[in-house]
Amino acid sequence: MSLTLQILLSVVSKLPKPIRDAITPEMRIPEILNSTSKVQLARPAHIYVDHPDLDRFAEFALDFGFIEEARSKDVIYLRGYGKDPYVYVARKSNDGKPRFRGAAFVAASREDFDKAAKLEGARVDSLENAPGGGEIITFDRPDETYFYVVFGQKERELNPKEPSATHEEQGPFNEPFNKPRRGVFQRYHPGPALIHKLGHYGYVFPDFDNELAWYTSHFNFVPSDILYHWDFEKIDVMTFLHLDRGDEYTDHHCFFMQRAEPHVKKAFCHHTSFEVADFDTQLLGHDWLSKKGWHNVWGVGRHVLGSQIFDYWADPSGFKIEHYADGDVVNHHTPSKRDVVGPFSVWGPEIPKDFGEKIPRAFLRK
Ligand SMILES: [Fe+2]
Repeated sequence: MSLTLQILLSVVSKLPKPIRDAITPEMRIPEILNSTSKVQLARPAHIYVDHPDLDRFAEFALDFGFIEEARSKDVIYLRGYGKDPYVYVARKSNDGKPRFRGAAFVAASREDFDKAAKLEGARVDSLENAPGGGEIITFDRPDETYFYVVFGQKERELNPKEPSATHEEQGPFNEPFNKPRRGVFQRYHPGPALIHKLGHYGYVFPDFDNELAWYTSHFNFVPSDILYHWDFEKIDVMTFLHLDRGDEYTDHHCFFMQRAEPHVKKAFCHHTSFEVADFDTQLLGHDWLSKKGWHNVWGVGRHVLGSQIFDYWADPSGFKIEHYADGDVVNHHTPSKRDVVGPFSVWGPEIPKDFGEKIPRAFLRK
């Protein structure tokens, strides 16, 4: 959105709604549907982030609930307890600046990976030196917002009993009219909220329309929810996207995109989010991070869109990183919804004023 347009909109916002609607530009997201011509992605896999102080980040990562899978001088592979060989690749920054360097998604099949390799700008490389091996395609997007597709990684074998660093005995939950847990006690101890998988991440894009078109024309990203501006019904400002897998249910959003305000000149990652087991895990993990002295950004609370229980933290480089549990899942029968921007939480602390910024101001002051 240009500055001229922003000034125009601030003037127009004072006018009565019918006049406003008549003279504001058309900036609604067009209908987006999946099709077999697009590359089908199965799930988000991992992210790449450069940190000025890799050892300090490694300390945070353990307290956040990651497990170190492999390490070399300048790279640490962190995993969850899901099937992906790693979910976070932390690298030493070459120039001392923190950088989010994009996310990788697993192609649904070899054919989809090969189809992605034929897209304009695709660069195919081997992942033979990373845990689990496989291959990766890199796409260079604006402002270093890289996007990757992977295939052929060796998946981890899942432990039939869900691992936990905090739960000794839990459940079934007793409710007022139904108390199935009889003579059995719930027992917990302090510890980190163990990470299951990469759930979602999202960008604030100055070039919102072009980037949305690129991601949704090449891949099976479909909006679950679209939000429009409170003063201008024809201006969509945000969308939460899921991966359309037909009848199969997938997370309400694995990717979100936000239209940048005019003062934002470069795209940036708003936050990344990793799944944990449940509400008790969230709160125990929150206490653990607090006691270790890390910087809480917002949480614990319950989101409206996606329904997740959330808890946002700042890592030592200032990136917002979220624990979430109990998110919604959708499939191709779930309609995309469009609504005005509203409250982001049902309950929880007040949303911080600087939540929309790249690095929280309170963190920078610290
Ligand atoms: Fe989130």
